[in-house]
Amino acid sequence: MADTKIDFNDYIASIPDFPEPGIIFRDISPLMANGKAYSAATDRITAFAKAHGAEMICGPEARGFIVGCPVADRLGIGFAPARKKGKLPRETVSVKFQLEYGETELFMHKDAVQPGQKVLIVDDLLATGGTVAATANLVEQLGGIVVGTAFLIELKELHGRDKIKDYDLFALMEY
Ligand code: PRP
Ligand code: ADE
Repeated sequence: MADTKIDFNDYIASIPDFPEPGIIFRDISPLMANGKAYSAATDRITAFAKAHGAEMICGPEARGFIVGCPVADRLGIGFAPARKKGKLPRETVSVKFQLEYGETELFMHKDAVQPGQKVLIVDDLLATGGTVAATANLVEQLGGIVVGTAFLIELKELHGRDKIKDYDLFALMEY
């Protein structure tokens, strides 16, 4: 069970001007490095996944894997990765989307999600919302049903949640 005494914020490192001036990078590495905090954070997202009837967890490369895979393992369900260009060897679906600067593309294998399957999208952090909206688009191209989105951190001032208004959202911490 989740340890309610844990202040998860104690395990987030904030680094000013990384990777570029003006950005405060919220680094989840200290949380991952602490077994109790990582496990308790996983418990919280797992509870959200369970409440939403998730049958599959989907997470975008790379930090979405770190947060999403242990949730899938806890529930005994599968994990579907959304990956960057050139990583997936079989037939894929893809979606292009805007980053803060420029454009990028995410891919999923065509058989990663089954039609009608209930999918929770998990990532470490919600910023502009481009990545999670793109991941939801991929899941829906495959016929999956997005039952919610879950993050360790939401950066409130970037209003990323406005891009994924159709889905229930859980964030363990807000900055
Ligand atoms: C980061 C983060 C989210 C995304 C959030 O990933 O892990 O996936 O940015 O930003 P957005 O809400 O503006 O789309 P990044 O693309 O840096 O990849 P990484 O996980 O491989 O470091
Ligand atoms: N991804 C996008 N913005 C970020 C931030 N401020 N810290 C960590 N990861 C991010």
